[in-house]
Amino acid sequence: MCGIVGILGKDDVAAPIVEALRRLEYRGYDSAGVATIDKGEIARRRAAGKLNVLREKLAREPLAGRAGLGHTRWATHGAPIDENAHPHATDRVSIVHNGIIENFRELRDKLAAKGRNFQSATDSEVIAQLITAYIDEEGASPIDAFRRMLSRIRGAFAIAAIFAGEDDLILAARQGSPLAIGRGDGEMFIGSDAFALAPFTNRVTYLDEGDHAVVTRQGFEVFDSGGAPAQRREIVSSVSDAMVDKDGHRHFMAKEIHEQPEVVGHTLARFVDPTAAALRDFGAGFDFRKLDRLIVSACGTAYYAGLIAKYWFETWARLPVEIDIASELRYRDIPYPKKGGAVFVSQSGETADTLAALREAKAHGQRIGAVVNVAESSIAREADDIFQINAGPEIGVASTKAFTCQLVALASLAIKAGAERGVLSKDDQTALVAALLETPRLIAEALQQEKAIEKIAADLSKARDILYIGRGVSFPIALEGALKLKEISYIHAEGYAAGELKHGPIALIDEHVPVVVVAPSDRHYEKTISNMHEIIARGGRPLLISDKRGIKEAGDVWAAIEAPETHPLLSPLVYAVPVQLLAYFAATAKGTDVDQPRNLAKSVTVE
Ligand code: AGP
Repeated sequence: MCGIVGILGKDDVAAPIVEALRRLEYRGYDSAGVATIDKGEIARRRAAGKLNVLREKLAREPLAGRAGLGHTRWATHGAPIDENAHPHATDRVSIVHNGIIENFRELRDKLAAKGRNFQSATDSEVIAQLITAYIDEEGASPIDAFRRMLSRIRGAFAIAAIFAGEDDLILAARQGSPLAIGRGDGEMFIGSDAFALAPFTNRVTYLDEGDHAVVTRQGFEVFDSGGAPAQRREIVSSVSDAMVDKDGHRHFMAKEIHEQPEVVGHTLARFVDPTAAALRDFGAGFDFRKLDRLIVSACGTAYYAGLIAKYWFETWARLPVEIDIASELRYRDIPYPKKGGAVFVSQSGETADTLAALREAKAHGQRIGAVVNVAESSIAREADDIFQINAGPEIGVASTKAFTCQLVALASLAIKAGAERGVLSKDDQTALVAALLETPRLIAEALQQEKAIEKIAADLSKARDILYIGRGVSFPIALEGALKLKEISYIHAEGYAAGELKHGPIALIDEHVPVVVVAPSDRHYEKTISNMHEIIARGGRPLLISDKRGIKEAGDVWAAIEAPETHPLLSPLVYAVPVQLLAYFAATAKGTDVDQPRNLAKSVTVE
């Protein structure tokens, strides 16, 4: 994950900026840089590698200036070299950026055609060039140019900008990646989290999704996604809890749900080259052409990620998948294929059942792949091939951001399998990768339903039993939604394939049993909605989760949650968000311990 710092100081800011960047090192990076406004001009020092390389460069060539920005970059577009390091700059503006600009290529082509010359291979530079074009060609003020840039770019991002000739101005924006403002005494600070700001201040205000802010030494103004002035709560963070900061959220689970646009973007960058809109050449270890089936195994939420991947491998790679929960697979005496392949999914990489099933498969000559969040975990160490996700530390017992990052890794693997087996055309590969690259923004859009979901969840929290139903790739989301709800709110919930209702579960339906219907406008929509009408006919209370079109066509429901339209098979990456938020707010309404629910452990290292 990239790190952002900005300071409007009383003295030169380069050194304190580097100190703050050091506190963001935990996020992982491969280059860093600082820019300041020195005598009205933009000055920069950037360096590939760790912060000590940048420090040495600054010692040789000091940077003056009391307004500045700093950045630690985890390369997504373009190699980790000096030219691609942030801050990016023109003679007018310098910017730092965290996230992915999906439409950078079309913007870059338009700007290059108008004579703007780009210095880097990054998507981020288009931000600086766009702002400069508005200033130079239309005489826009820095604030207007910044706002117009925001209206043109698409993606999930956090951005900060400083301007030539402006010694007392930082402009900042948040859409999917966290950004906080720190208030000092005659100084102001911005940072990716409170921990970066801790050396300067503990008075921290987090921007909301879609906000942008105008910061001067006297203070700051926040404007919401509609451009209206907005008030945001200032918190006092202590250095200790800043160390494992909740980014202003009440619980780690809430923070981690909101981190998904950012960490899904960083996991994507590991498997996909956003510049080429193609899969990276990540070694999968398997010879997919020789596999006649793939074994997939995991526990809990990770198992549901595997269930979704089954649809992807079978659809895109025509590769049958045998999936089972690890605690069962390890005891089945399955006829393992010779030189077969098995993929194990685990956030912690320490789940005893999953590790035992891995060892069983390995003992039977299977090549072992592992989708893990913890690179040095036991499962990672014993696998032949690691498919690392970049979810960052997941503290909440209920797995959220790891789930969507696991889906990114598994989708990339399934596309790769299809390409290698010669059954997925180049165009289809490109279309799927392009759709994957949209997910950080779509997840950020889904998060904007948070207030509406909180209201519905308060009602839901009064129920004793709740059903979740879905078809196709929405069936595992129904299972995941039910698991999320029961494990943190202690309400009994079950997920079912919608087509199964009439084979028994519909006997449970009456006015006391809400049914969450996961039904994007895909090829299963009509059938799932007719299941929903069967529920209504028996006095049931359906809560429909669908896109605008799906909600409109469904008619009267007890309640509805809107999700953005998605690629039909990639909807789980986005529909995970409403079911996560439903569970979260049902649990907060009930007052249970959201981050440490009773009887549960974050990593089940016992069998
Ligand atoms: C999910 O919210 C639960 N905490 C649990 O089901 C978890 O997914 C399961 O224990 C697997 O954990 P792992 O991904 O670390 O292997």
